[in-house]
Amino acid sequence: MIQIFKDVFHLTNKTLSYAMRVQEKKVLHAYWGSALGTREDLVCAAVYAADCGTSRDSAPQEFGERGRGDFRDPAIVCTAEGIATTEFEYAGYEILQKKPAFSMPALRGGGETLVLLLKDARRKLTLRLHYTLFEWGLARRTELTNEGEEEVRVTKLASACLDFPRGAYESIHLSGRWGAECIPTRSRVLQGLRELSSRRGITSHQHNPFLAVLEAGAGEDSGAVYGFNLIYSGNFSVTMDGDERGGLRVNVGCALTDGVLLSPGETLSSPEAVCVFSREGVGGMSRAFHNLYRKHLIHPRFQGRMRPIVLNSWESVYFDFDEEKLLRFIDGAKGLGIDIVVLDDGWFGRRDLDDSSLGDWFIHKDKLPHGFAPLIERCKQHGMKFGLWFEPEAVSPNSELYRAHPDWAIATAGRTGIQMRNQLVLDFSKREVVDYLFDAMSKVLKENDISYVKWDMNRAFTDVVREETYFGHVQGVYDLYERLTAAFPHVLIEGCSSGGGRFDPAILYYSPMIWTSDDTDAFERMRVQYGTSLCYPLETMSNHVSACPNHQTGRTTPLATRGAVASLGCLGYELNVGALGEEERAEIARQISRYRADAACILTGELYRLCDPFRENAFCEEVVAQDGACAYLVYCRPLAQVNLPAPRVKLKGLNREGVYRIEETGRLASGAELMYMGIAIDLPAGDFASAVYHFTRTD
Ligand code: DGJ
Repeated sequence: MIQIFKDVFHLTNKTLSYAMRVQEKKVLHAYWGSALGTREDLVCAAVYAADCGTSRDSAPQEFGERGRGDFRDPAIVCTAEGIATTEFEYAGYEILQKKPAFSMPALRGGGETLVLLLKDARRKLTLRLHYTLFEWGLARRTELTNEGEEEVRVTKLASACLDFPRGAYESIHLSGRWGAECIPTRSRVLQGLRELSSRRGITSHQHNPFLAVLEAGAGEDSGAVYGFNLIYSGNFSVTMDGDERGGLRVNVGCALTDGVLLSPGETLSSPEAVCVFSREGVGGMSRAFHNLYRKHLIHPRFQGRMRPIVLNSWESVYFDFDEEKLLRFIDGAKGLGIDIVVLDDGWFGRRDLDDSSLGDWFIHKDKLPHGFAPLIERCKQHGMKFGLWFEPEAVSPNSELYRAHPDWAIATAGRTGIQMRNQLVLDFSKREVVDYLFDAMSKVLKENDISYVKWDMNRAFTDVVREETYFGHVQGVYDLYERLTAAFPHVLIEGCSSGGGRFDPAILYYSPMIWTSDDTDAFERMRVQYGTSLCYPLETMSNHVSACPNHQTGRTTPLATRGAVASLGCLGYELNVGALGEEERAEIARQISRYRADAACILTGELYRLCDPFRENAFCEEVVAQDGACAYLVYCRPLAQVNLPAPRVKLKGLNREGVYRIEETGRLASGAELMYMGIAIDLPAGDFASAVYHFTRTD
């Protein structure tokens, strides 16, 4: 509901409120958090009380700008005719009955939308600030229109700007590197400006476009936590500017470092930012993101649906395969319960190593003289489907595509392009490049019965001479996704970027699951998955059980632990299952059939993180069905210790009075007992031991 009382705008539902107030033509931020109620007098009183100063530098601005007395990090910076300052004033509002679609992925659905109009009369610029409140959070975005006669260079246009009142804040963001993505980093917010960003063209190996701001004392289960996430797959910037009075400004948006040019009459749209709020700590914030994304981001075709169980060829054969070897690989999966065998890198052009053929999306005839037909046929015989790897945005200098169209790769004129993994990036801001990829991929998908595509992207961008290329490339990626998903609605596209290099909500809009990390070691994965779950629901994380010793770390972990960790997401396998002994094969078949039974709970349930694997010698996650009828718990203990009692875990989110049967022990226990006394975890001996428990309500 959107309420307008005098000069106060109030968006509210049963749980949340967002309020702003117009004062002397400036829009001031007034409130974001738990619902204020709907009584005019109370809302207005709260909003007026929230005003913390009259100077432009101390008043909470709704959209901070530069050069007119507000010295904090601005939400907008644009220059024309040498003028870099702006003075936007309130110029009206609109209420749209439905959230309008625009050119980028955004939350689906959404009703009443408030659009505030701000104008800079001198500069002839108009800002439109969009707000749509959902059950679990707020969608925000910005449009800037150039109504003047000169080109405007826009170097910053935040999707959301939020001024927090004076307080003691901490932040959590997800930083990392290839193979170790989404490591939660908690810090005190200090005076000064801090930026988390990507200027690599892809989003998230180093920093995910996510931020949590915690009020003092907030923890995993309690306290006020504000979450931010940007629905964008390219360069982004999240800033925290702690001011000298203890206030905090957060800006979230794409990074336009060198600026994009806005011609007269043109409008620039920011991507959409998602803001959630929780009084139940970081865990509550995660559950808000999860529920919001399940219902309003994931494509309806996949909402609440189990993702297929994949057997991926990469760590089994890498580039070294032929038809014979792949048929044996497929035969190995027979009877285990696998849904799809995915042939990863190496099937196209003359690709025998990572030094050629990206862009040549036709079958490598030396390896596969009869094409995919025998492989697909064999999969079908065993009741499985077939999937294929692509890296659409890449080109190898040693490829037919590059020889025919060297100008399609992003390059600085007169310089040799920097190669990473022996490849260049195709310029998806060019329509003809995206057309080529659509045609090439469509041909393969039309001529073969393919149900699954893994869309990989294995390098950062270099040699980008115009900011527009970054921005245009991302639009091209969305365009190709749009066209492929429309033409092949039965094909599930898994997102991937050297693991979690592009684990962001815009990819999730198209891909219902993303390869979480190239590190498949179960111990490392506990941490990566723990961090990723801060923002993203379990069923979006693609997790594979791989061989031991692990190819990335050399570590050996029990198969049961590898299965248990991978089950907290989209379970899959990435090892030569045919070469395993009978016992291990039986274990895999058991894991898969058990996972099928648990999938509904994992896909729709509420996640509780019971141990922090960065601080404890334990990883423990529990998923509780929305109706509390059942729960699934995974516990892992990395290092064995002597002379200690069994670890005890207190469950969360159960029905206090409910009676639950613990499947693994056959015992009955009340919700209260499980939550307040907890259960002792029965672990096998040795390092990296794990236990899995199922709780079913019996009353
Ligand atoms: C990086 C991906 O993350 C891997 O899973 C694999 O697909 C390789 N690329 C193939 O080149």
